[in-house]
Amino acid sequence: MSEASATRTGCPVLRFDHRAIQSGERFRVWDELRALGPIFWSDQYGGFWVVGGFEEVSAVLRDDATFSSAKNPDGTGGQSIPPFIWQRNVPGEYDGEEHVRLRSVLLPPLSPKLIEGRRPMVAALVSEIFDRLEGRATVDATREIAVPVPAHSMFTFMGLPRSDAEAIGLTVHEIMGAREGTARAAELAPALEAIKQRMLDEVAERRARPTGDIISLYANLTDENRKLGPDELLSVLVTGMLFGGLVTAAETLANGMVYLARHPDMRARLAAEPELIPNFVQDLVRWVTPASSVARTVTKTTVLGGQTLKPGERILCLLGSANHDPKAFEAPHLVDPGAWRNRHVGFGLGAHFCPGAPLARLEIEITLRELLRRAPAYTIDDLDQAAIGLADPAGGWRPLVLRPKG
Ligand code: HEM
Repeated sequence: MSEASATRTGCPVLRFDHRAIQSGERFRVWDELRALGPIFWSDQYGGFWVVGGFEEVSAVLRDDATFSSAKNPDGTGGQSIPPFIWQRNVPGEYDGEEHVRLRSVLLPPLSPKLIEGRRPMVAALVSEIFDRLEGRATVDATREIAVPVPAHSMFTFMGLPRSDAEAIGLTVHEIMGAREGTARAAELAPALEAIKQRMLDEVAERRARPTGDIISLYANLTDENRKLGPDELLSVLVTGMLFGGLVTAAETLANGMVYLARHPDMRARLAAEPELIPNFVQDLVRWVTPASSVARTVTKTTVLGGQTLKPGERILCLLGSANHDPKAFEAPHLVDPGAWRNRHVGFGLGAHFCPGAPLARLEIEITLRELLRRAPAYTIDDLDQAAIGLADPAGGWRPLVLRPKG
């Protein structure tokens, strides 16, 4: 973040690029930004408003009529700044009735009740992943725990062969970690195309021979009003499930392991009282906020944080900053399993609230439970550098060396 350089109708204008915030500096940067006031303007990416207070962020997310998520036919708008270039997210980049229709197609298999029914399946695969690590002095917690658990869980959930889960999971993380326009992103472009083609092949296969899995369900909808077109289906499977569901859960999991290594008292408490782990996970999602910002487009003149926002202007909500706002959360930089702080915005809020939250929470809860049962005194090397983002934007992986016996 650079200094405020000018004012725009009385509010700070910054050369602010949210994507340049280093993992280790997030809390400090967010605290500084909130101290500037409720809203500021960034002159990057064509200019956009930024809010990072819990109150302002919640106000934007709740009012999807004034703050649109829709992507325009020319690729502008949508949920991120700069926009995802390769497609329109389903259902994230739709508004109103279209959004409700798409969500109603997507949601049934993700319901909390059905996901809870999958607990034995997730527990079995987590146990199997830990079995592979038994007896080892060190484990790469990124490659061997954080990425595999959500990948195996999601692949099983979708009905894809688990033998491909880790390779595709790792590739998805690398693609998400690479900034577009860089040489690394160009190198990874064929891998993205291969994942998309793979999903199209899976869809064709399920249309020919339905198996009752999630892909079959989404690929074979018969209700004319609720069918998914080819691009919609691809977006649900690739952007929603793989990109939306794998990286977020893995980063929360990795950072949970780091947090507990940094806070041995909390680790001992959770090991002794595992019934606290679900609350811990809920607050951990707040603390990490792996989807740290979302964007919207202003649809009508409105006032926010004392500024007048005009139709067509873009606004970025710093979800991570809102989740660390001391006005909303006491001691926000600590994870607290005692206080049920589930009103955070780590999974969003309002119409676009994350439908994958029950699945993600289940995966993280079961993995931490198993880790604390098997290795209650584990340590992590270079704890100070253990970072929030797992994929290094320059390519490859940030190391997360976990020693099960400490
Ligand atoms: C810790 C894990 C996760 C976090 C932190 C997370 C975060 C979020 C957030 C913040 C949003 C709202 C975006 C917005 O308002 O623009 C969202 C939406 C969404 N998430 Fe997640 N997510 C997680 C896991 C998952 C999983 C496992 C799935 C798939 C099973 C998933 C699928 C989706 C979809 C499809 C949407 C769009 C919903 C809509 O626009 O109506 N997410 N997620």
